[in-house]
Amino acid sequence: MAVTGTSTRRMPTTAGIGLRLPHLAEVAATRPAVGWLEIHPENFLANPHATELLVELSDCYPISVHTVGISIGSVDRIDRPHLRRLRALIDTVNPVLVSGHLAWSTHEGAYLNDLLPLPLNEEALRVVAAHLREVQDGLGRPYVIENPSSYVGFATSTMSEVEFLGELVHRTGCELLCDVSNVYLSAHNMGYDAYKFIDALPAQAIREIHLGGFTAEDDPGHAGATLLVDTHATRITPPVWDLYAHALRRLGPVPTVIEWDNDIPALATLVEEASSADAVAARVRGQGHAVAG
Ligand SMILES: [Fe+2]
Repeated sequence: MAVTGTSTRRMPTTAGIGLRLPHLAEVAATRPAVGWLEIHPENFLANPHATELLVELSDCYPISVHTVGISIGSVDRIDRPHLRRLRALIDTVNPVLVSGHLAWSTHEGAYLNDLLPLPLNEEALRVVAAHLREVQDGLGRPYVIENPSSYVGFATSTMSEVEFLGELVHRTGCELLCDVSNVYLSAHNMGYDAYKFIDALPAQAIREIHLGGFTAEDDPGHAGATLLVDTHATRITPPVWDLYAHALRRLGPVPTVIEWDNDIPALATLVEEASSADAVAARVRGQGHAVAG
């Protein structure tokens, strides 16, 4: 059963940026012309001054909350105290949506500084679906699931990632965040077709798109091969802009956020990237493509 209670604030029609702490004071002072702001709530939980600025900004911008510590794919139980702290912040900011990765990052109470993959099979589906209900009940609103960046597969997987996400939507009524850059780099790393992945997504369930930069590195497991790593440390590359245009043709005008988390550039660079996303969306609108069902 889908949880109701999502924010009544309208979803933005122009692209937004991931708001990271180094830009917080500048964004509060200059109010750049972007459609919305996305935050990692874990950066604000122990930072009352940053939270104060964020609450001020929430009067001017729609806010999206993108969690990195919920660990929905872990066999561990969901950390209820962490969920309660998140809910207090979320209730204060009243975001347009709350999201997190299809991944796990806790084990026996320890928090790992990474978003780790899970086998794509029936057992994992049951775990994620049960945790998803618990998280949505705890937060009192829908929790949107993002496709992760992938580097390895499991011998115990019985379905593709897009099949897993589709089945999760079917069973729980949840909605999805499509990270187009993750689709691009995971397709490269895992050897599948990024365009077919986008085509197989349940279009009606996609609430948000992420775009971020990645870094090409030597694949330690395959001599001469390249691994694309989701570093969020560079501009969006031309092939990802092309895939983004395809995603908009297929999914419709989905609200989009630019993510940049390492080697963080001047705020103006993020604003430029958001403008580039808007330009792609305008071009797709001008082409008059119908949205697939
Ligand atoms: Fe993302």
